[in-house]
Amino acid sequence: MITIKSDREIELMREAGKLVSLTHQYLKPYIKPGITTKELDRLAEDYIRSMGAVPTCKGYEGFPAALCTSVNDTVVHGIPSDYALKKGDIITIDMVIGYKGYQGDAAWTYAVGEISEDKKYLMEHTEKALYEGLKQVKPGNRIGDISHSIEQYAIKHHLGVVKELCGHGIGREMHEDPEVPNYGEAGTGPKLKEGMVICIEPMLNLGTADIYMLEDNWTIKTDDGKPSAHYEHTVLVTKDGYEILTPRLDLES
Ligand code: MF3
Ligand code: CO
Repeated sequence: MITIKSDREIELMREAGKLVSLTHQYLKPYIKPGITTKELDRLAEDYIRSMGAVPTCKGYEGFPAALCTSVNDTVVHGIPSDYALKKGDIITIDMVIGYKGYQGDAAWTYAVGEISEDKKYLMEHTEKALYEGLKQVKPGNRIGDISHSIEQYAIKHHLGVVKELCGHGIGREMHEDPEVPNYGEAGTGPKLKEGMVICIEPMLNLGTADIYMLEDNWTIKTDDGKPSAHYEHTVLVTKDGYEILTPRLDLES
């Protein structure tokens, strides 16, 4: 069932989304060579709790941390560890924060120091693929319009589209209906209505779209070992378009 959020719920989701944005911005200066992904996770959890919010991923189906930290060929759900970031890495930080019962969810890929041109290309076009999807968000359009736009953009830029994982509705729960795939046919799927809140999250690979899961049952990696990027926003469908509930504050700094 796809829920329509009331004005009060939207206000709370705006607050939850803002906390996600603030936490990303807080972490950004720490994303430097030498820091471990566990240290990033600790910083994030302390910061989230200091705002009176909850790191929803921690304990979700047994996930052990506040952040998913996915480095280089890890697509999603990397578990924070003693791995120390190196110059030239890219790392996706994905987090869900609960505030007064509502969830916000956003993932962005960051460069660690100077990175290769290939990785810059991957990051730039994965983020742009998210914005291509966003352009389709307005009442009357369908989920398939978002999916199709993302896929077409990725194909045009020769990036592999991960198909096993998709975006989702969000509200009291981090995963609600509908599913928001990153591939598909325009004009298909559920119709968007004012007051729906969805997460759009392309996961694109520099090489093959194929992935596998590590024995930890979480970490998803690319089959060919090439890097992957992931950008996600929590988005409200408005009367004539959309509002990003997890705006990127870091782009201003
Ligand atoms: N943020 C991710 C998503 O968009 C999920 C977090 S995975 C978790 O679905 F299980 F660790 F929470
Ligand atoms: Co999500």
